Amino acid sequence: MPPHPYRLFGDSHSTLRQTRREFAHSLLAAGLTAALPAGLFSGCSVSSNAAGTAGSTGPANPRARQFDTSSEVSFPRNFFWGTATAAYQIEGAWKEDDKGESIWDRFAHTPGKIKNGDNGDVACNSYHRWREDIALMRAMNLNSYRFSISWPRIQPTGSGPANSKGIDYYSRLADALLEARIRPFVTLYHWDLPQTLEDAGGWPNRDTAARFADYVAVLAHALGDRVSDWMLFNEPSAFVDLGHLEGRHAPGRKSLLDFLRASHTVNLAQGASFHALKAVRPSSRVGTAFSMSSCEPATDSEPDKLAAERAHAITNLWFLEPALKGQYPAALAFFPETAMGIKSGDLEKMRAPLDFVGINLYYRTIASAPGAMERLSHAQEWLFPVKKASGEQCPKTDMGCEIWPQALYDVVMRITRDFNRPQIEITESGCAYNDGPDGDGAIRDTRRIEYHRQYLQALARTMADGADVRSYHAWTLMDNFEWAEGFSQRFGLAYMDFKTQKRTIKESGRWYAKVAAESRLRPGE
Ligand code: FCB
Repeated sequence: MPPHPYRLFGDSHSTLRQTRREFAHSLLAAGLTAALPAGLFSGCSVSSNAAGTAGSTGPANPRARQFDTSSEVSFPRNFFWGTATAAYQIEGAWKEDDKGESIWDRFAHTPGKIKNGDNGDVACNSYHRWREDIALMRAMNLNSYRFSISWPRIQPTGSGPANSKGIDYYSRLADALLEARIRPFVTLYHWDLPQTLEDAGGWPNRDTAARFADYVAVLAHALGDRVSDWMLFNEPSAFVDLGHLEGRHAPGRKSLLDFLRASHTVNLAQGASFHALKAVRPSSRVGTAFSMSSCEPATDSEPDKLAAERAHAITNLWFLEPALKGQYPAALAFFPETAMGIKSGDLEKMRAPLDFVGINLYYRTIASAPGAMERLSHAQEWLFPVKKASGEQCPKTDMGCEIWPQALYDVVMRITRDFNRPQIEITESGCAYNDGPDGDGAIRDTRRIEYHRQYLQALARTMADGADVRSYHAWTLMDNFEWAEGFSQRFGLAYMDFKTQKRTIKESGRWYAKVAAESRLRPGE
């Protein structure tokens, strides 16, 4: 272990700590990385059948409750009502105006990676039709738009001077949003790394942290006079896991070593880019959108409770605690830190006193401890002794996610308690339902209305109980390219005809418009 001024991890609860660490080192040394442990983070997904999950179960959760939708609930007047999107999922124009190739361009163009051979070459064509997107938001009475900037539009090869055509696009978008009285809420990285940087080693290469900080500084200079609210990353745990360990997302790697190295580079990048942005724009608000899930023990047994704490640490804290506390979570002390590439002084470099914690939340997780036989027969459960499952007690979305608003309540309250009541932005929540137009052209997606109604009720309860929540962003403005699922999963408040790119507001969009206009949920509407 390299010399560190601070402890890397807090005290581990694990009595197997040393054994497991040695075991992990021996696996790494033997190059057995591809087999290891799928599904560290991922939850429900139509394509998720990751090893290491417990299978779907549904323990009786005494704390679970349906949130009362029969009473009226008001939100603060200055609450932000928004939707969220991401560049690769909506923009299209994948090689226009000197944009460079991204890892998602490369991945989606590789046969067999995306359902039905879909790709984001055109998607919603927002690169050309962004005025229509803003018109949708106006019609929905929204006052916040979370969108992401495509790094290879700004720096086609991941470094060097800015591509002015790329800057112009986002500049026009930000101006038009301000004109429409909609807050531009900008994600700097939503998964589309320039391919050139991937060729140089990608996120497992520590140099990528410095490249990212440079890119962020370029945007702070170019847009920081109009954009004041930024997210450095979208769901670091998702792209580090799915892209480097499970291989289901770009760049498609399946390596424990890459997963560990990429984790640490992203934590360094979060620290470096936070300071780079603040150096240019000291008064900006900077956070990250973390993917989170409540992690419940499957039973009241001590091993299951410990498994739930570990699941919470890997799911919710792996990128948050390094930023806010300058350390990795104690419950994960068995990870082999030398393999992560941690150097002296790195803990201080990871620190980023984020102005807000962005939370993306869709579902809950049920955690249990693997039994002795499972440990012996599955290498991954020695390294990461947690089995994760989704719940089965409530109806599911078309993508297989159980609707569980209690998860939003539990996570917001836990982050509020454990991190000294930070400002929280709900940066994503939503559901896939593939309802299409009826004979009269209307899209009656009443299940989506019910989803958002329940999650908003849960959110209102957190605020009544003391959480400092500033916004809710529905995922997503309009149906778009859903990563490995291609166009097969529709999450939008507006329907997208992918042949013509015609946008039509669904019933859920009309409902959301009323909620946003009044900043209030009314029973029976
Ligand atoms: C989140 C992603 C977002 C979208 C939704 C459904 O994990 O951040 O881009 O795909 O899931």
